[in-house]
Amino acid sequence: MQFDIITIFPKFFDSFLLESLMKKAQDKKILTFRIHDLRVHAKDKHKTVDDKPYGGGAGMLLKIEPLARALKNIKRKKRCRVILLTPSGKQFTQKKAQDYAKKYDQLIFLCGRYEGFDARIKKYIDEELSIGPYVLNGGEVAAMAICEAVGRLVPGVVGNASSLNEESHTTPDSIEYPQYTRPENFKGLKVPGVLLSGDHKKISEWKAKHTQKRKPLR
Ligand code: 6GU
Repeated sequence: MQFDIITIFPKFFDSFLLESLMKKAQDKKILTFRIHDLRVHAKDKHKTVDDKPYGGGAGMLLKIEPLARALKNIKRKKRCRVILLTPSGKQFTQKKAQDYAKKYDQLIFLCGRYEGFDARIKKYIDEELSIGPYVLNGGEVAAMAICEAVGRLVPGVVGNASSLNEESHTTPDSIEYPQYTRPENFKGLKVPGVLLSGDHKKISEWKAKHTQKRKPLR
């Protein structure tokens, strides 16, 4: 799976790509990330990527030419999707993450900034996505969230494939039992004794009894 991200803040992605599972997946050549600096595609001497809206209005819009040029510059695989990231997009969900991991070999993200885009970008995109009902300064954090959610579903990225099936959100109503690790007693908060008993039958029964739809702890 290849992720191409068009942004005016390419350095946002440095630590995301150099740490943890996303780094390992790149080392294993399962995931490829390409970060494209939109400014590189601004052809005027001031490297302008935004401009005032025709007809007036607050704020600046990302210009169409640098975006179109950046997109044209990216080599497309056959199974490719171009995604615009804005707060007014369709809600990104685990279901979508699963769909993308299965259907595409390449996702191209345009990170929104400022007050928006020239509306003609519509012709260049397949879909507009949001990661939730709140406003971020730009699409960069959303791009990372989506790349991580999709990337970890690509076979080989997460070491133990069964942990993908069992964990929360694989299905919307997934079920789990409470889990504990050391110490046995943390400031008077104790691990249920049966889990320390070594009695596998009792432990299974305890897990079955406490398995339920995972709720927030508070
Ligand atoms: Cl994709 N972009 C911005 N700017 N804000 C958001 C978002 C995206 N998703 C939720 N809020």
